[in-house]
Parts: sequence; C-alpha cells; structure tokens
Amino acid sequence: MKASAPGKIILFGEHAVVYGRPALAVPVTQVHVDAEVSDSPRAGIWIHAPIIDLHAELNSLPPDHAIASVILKVIQRFGISPLPNLDISISSTIPVAAGLGSGAAVSVALIRALSASLSRPMTDDEVNALTYEIEKIHHGTPSGIDNTVITYGKPVYFMKDRPVETFKTGNPFTIVIGDTGIAAPTKESVGDVRRLWIRDQFNLENIFNEIAQIALIGRRSIESGRTEMLGELMDHNHEYLQELTVSSPELDSLVEAARKAGALGAKMSGGGRGGNMIALVDPAKAESVAAALMSAGAKRTIITEVS
Ligand code: MEV
Repeated sequence: MKASAPGKIILFGEHAVVYGRPALAVPVTQVHVDAEVSDSPRAGIWIHAPIIDLHAELNSLPPDHAIASVILKVIQRFGISPLPNLDISISSTIPVAAGLGSGAAVSVALIRALSASLSRPMTDDEVNALTYEIEKIHHGTPSGIDNTVITYGKPVYFMKDRPVETFKTGNPFTIVIGDTGIAAPTKESVGDVRRLWIRDQFNLENIFNEIAQIALIGRRSIESGRTEMLGELMDHNHEYLQELTVSSPELDSLVEAARKAGALGAKMSGGGRGGNMIALVDPAKAESVAAALMSAGAKRTIITEVS
C-alpha cells in the first residue's frame, strides 16, 4: 500500500500561532513524502529510508526515533499483536528541517500507508490527531498547523484548539520559495520566542496581535481574489518576525533580493533562523525572482501556484 503527503509553507502567522493567533498555511505539492508498506518475507518490521541512510528493523531503533515512533503509535493505537512482518519504504523530496514540514509529511504518509495495509481505515481527523501527537514528541510545543495543512492538503486558516478551517482561493497566485539551506530546528526558535515572551509579555502579545490582523486580512484577500494585497502583508509580517528575532541575515538577504528582483512582497516562512522564505510574484517574474534568489545564496527554489 502506498501513500504520499505534500510539503507546506506558512503564508502568515508563524510563531504567533503558538500563542493562539490565526495563521495561514498552504500545501506545496511539488515536494512530497512517499511511503510504501508491503508484507515482508523476513521476520520483523523493516524500514528503508535511503534519504537518511536508514535500513533497520524496528526493534533496533530507539522508541523516540522519528520513523519508529510513528510505527509504534499506529501499532499501539490499533492494539496489533503479534506484529506483522512488513517492509516499509520511505522516500522524500522535501528538504529536512527547512520549514517545509518534512517531519509531519513523513508521519502522515506513513500513517496512511500503514492504516491501509493493516486494513484499519482512518479518517483525516484521526490521521491529523495522531500526527500531532508525534509532532509533540519531536517539536516541544507545536501549534499543530504543520500536521493540519499536510493532512488535509488544502489551504488552512488555523487556530490552535479550534476545528480545522480550510478555505478557497478567489484567484490563483504564485509564490517563489527560497531555501537558505540552513537546517534550523523549529523547537529552538519557538523556545527563544518563549523566553522573549516570558521577559516581555506585553510587547510580545502586541506583536502577536498585529500578526493576527495580517493573517485575517490575508485570508480575506485570498478568498476575495485580491491577491495583490498579499505582498505588502508579507513585508509587514516579515518585520514582526524580525522583531521576534527569528529571522536571520541569510533570510533577510533573500527577502531583500526577491523584492529587488520585482517580487510584490516577501517574508521568511516557518520557524526561521534558517529554512525558507517566500515571495509573492507575478507569474511572468517567477523565474527571474528564483534566479535572483539563487544568486543571493539560496540553495534551491521552488515555484508554486496556490489555487
Ligand atoms: C512552524 O512551521 C511554525 C511555527 O509557528 C511553529 C508552530 O506553529 O508549531 C514556528
């Protein structure tokens, strides 16, 4: 049985979303994780993930291992005993620790492939809840936005502890993603924002409120097809993320390069410090903005249409 899950980017609202504010995220289908589960002729559950050079039997891995923890959660949830003999293959084109949701996509693809192969169907809500449990093992206090957008594969307007809201785009728009190539665990930037918040709650709450407004206006602009507004909103959101100290010189210079090359606006996206930035572009300018990002030091770019 095969299943796949897309990458994601956050358009507006990262970090503030951890504090209950809304955020917008969209799937990026150009990159994905593919998982395949089949019966194995050998005893045990064998995992092959060439991308991280992993070829191992489940029991030889620590229980909190990124992939083992997903398999163990599924087995535990269904109370399966004795364990079946399985071969599990995982491949991915989503760069790791780049803010594109690679971890959540591994969980979603693997959970779906396992549930199908064990003939235990799961709803999207169940896949999402289980993926969130796994995200919590690896990322401290995640808001849940990554697992949600990746599970549903649609644009989401996300607020913690609220029912999932997907939304439609009035007009398609084009985003160029630029990857700094710097692996930056979200846990660290989220932890640093937490420390800032403990020191100066008043200021941080104000910044989160401003970001929440941006996310709200962003959603309305997308739904009503007034996507030209999004550029300015991205620029403002980036400034607030700089105030939260989660941008970096590399992200700032890619954001600058995109704007100089004619992007309508740009911001870092995701946890920050490294990872990726996004730029809103006129489709005719997408290639030249992507080229400018490469010249400014991006390790890779992805052009994606949100529709
Ligand atoms: C990470 O993709 C987004 C953050 O807001 C963290 C989270 O929401 O859990 C930085």
